[in-house]
Amino acid sequence: MGGKTLLDLPEVAVASMNATHAEEMEIIERLLAALAADDAPAVQEAAEDFARHVEEHFSREERLMEQHGFPPYPIHKGEHDYMRAEVAAVCAVVDMAEGRAKLKAFLEQEFLPWLVNHVSTMDMATAHFLAMHGVE
Ligand SMILES: [Fe+2]
Ligand SMILES: [Fe+2]
Repeated sequence: MGGKTLLDLPEVAVASMNATHAEEMEIIERLLAALAADDAPAVQEAAEDFARHVEEHFSREERLMEQHGFPPYPIHKGEHDYMRAEVAAVCAVVDMAEGRAKLKAFLEQEFLPWLVNHVSTMDMATAHFLAMHGVE
């Protein structure tokens, strides 16, 4: 990742999960740059990419947990479901300046700290389990 990201997310034991996390950080950087420039069309596009990526990221982990019978699946999915709803709500209103300000605050104050914590705990434990089941 070359130290270019805003935050270095902790590495987990499954390489494909790390790749997804790195991709998400790139989208967030693009989104924050568009917000800083107050470029409304670029914000709209990056916010859609962000919401889509979060959904794919969470769904993929959930599929893997189900396929391999990870016992604390409901707890991990519960954290995803909470954040899915937050992301969808905040990305839906970026056509207004007020919504864009809200999205910026959400990313910096809620999503990024949440993601660091989530990856350090839920994803870390899940990846350890999946790696023992041959997931790469
Ligand atoms: Fe993850
Ligand atoms: Fe997760």
